Amino acid sequence: MDTNAAPIIEAKGLTKHFRRPVKEPGLKGAVRHLFRPAYADVVAVEGVNLSILPGESVAYVGPNGAGKSTTVKLLTGILVPTSGRVTVNGLTPFENRVENARRIGVVFGQRTQLWWDIPVGESFRLLGDIYELPDETYRASFGELIDVLDLEPLLRVPARQLSLGQRMRCDLAASLLHRPPILYLDEPTIGLDVSVKARFREFIRYMHRERGLTVMLTSHDLGDIEELCDRMVMIDNGRIVYDGALSEVTTRFGWERAVHLTLTEPDESALEAASRALGNRPGAVATQPEPTMVAVTFDSRETTAGELIRDLATALAVTDIRIEEPTAESIIRRLYEGDLVFEQAE
Ligand SMILES: Nc1ncnc2c1ncn2[C@@H]1O[C@H](COP(=O)(O)OP(=O)(O)OP(=O)(O)O)[C@@H](O)[C@H]1O
Ligand SMILES: [Mg+2]
Repeated sequence: MDTNAAPIIEAKGLTKHFRRPVKEPGLKGAVRHLFRPAYADVVAVEGVNLSILPGESVAYVGPNGAGKSTTVKLLTGILVPTSGRVTVNGLTPFENRVENARRIGVVFGQRTQLWWDIPVGESFRLLGDIYELPDETYRASFGELIDVLDLEPLLRVPARQLSLGQRMRCDLAASLLHRPPILYLDEPTIGLDVSVKARFREFIRYMHRERGLTVMLTSHDLGDIEELCDRMVMIDNGRIVYDGALSEVTTRFGWERAVHLTLTEPDESALEAASRALGNRPGAVATQPEPTMVAVTFDSRETTAGELIRDLATALAVTDIRIEEPTAESIIRRLYEGDLVFEQAE
């Protein structure tokens, strides 16, 4: 990654509102809407500032409906922003859709860009023509992708007959055939089994590290994020709430610990006993997920695990103790749930 380089993707105040028709229920409502249509304003993306350097790999995360896909569509030129500015490879995507398409690859996990009824190999040839790739470039790029993604056996199969994992490999090849410097991946591993997912990640890592591919990935699979990205941008209700190193998130919220205690036998009064033992230590909360288990989450800035275990082990009949540090996954989940909050929205 060249930190002196100009950004390859840049958004300033990027905003997209949708108008959603509001209809009263029933026929009467439908008819009324026909004559006097009413609309509600849906804020999908609001004032997003984003600057991505060539060769970065950025995870774009956030809960359902946060505005991730809308942002990707704005960056790829599929949607026109309501306001704000976006520049990709120096172009405004929606004003230069064709030129922009030559310089980006896109994979939407829920959709294929392959022609449904024709053999995959034909789809690739068509894409080569559409991108006007010189023969030599096409052959080299095609050859490499076939090889790395092991597509030879699939070339004569129509897209509609492919399994999800096979289709994903073909879609990846299709998105990179013209050797774009940027790849957008929107939920690329959705529904893939563990081994296909692992191969997918390996391939993206290879393209990123060896080829300097700039990657922007949206995913609910935190494994994808941890394995593929160094930087995380989190969006919530259309606004960016965090933009920084992924590791910084665990550092910032990493103070929370959990102690899991296994009891010698099922104990209905264990939760009460544990809560009493905790006294009024700030930030310490006990739960009893199973009759033989008590879990205590606590703030390691306030209490040490040693103190806590000493008090709990006195109050309960314990056979086993496990201390858990938060993973990026658990932290991100709780950020989504609003359980943890970034103090300062950037
Ligand atoms: N074409 C559209 N018309 C009206 N509203 C839309 C349209 N597309 C998206 N929205 C709304 O914009 C908001 C953001 O949607 P978006 O698809 O960007 O979310 P997302 O972050 O990709 O969510 P998910 O994780 O579920 O894929 C949602 O409230 C959604 O309902
Ligand atoms: Mg989406």
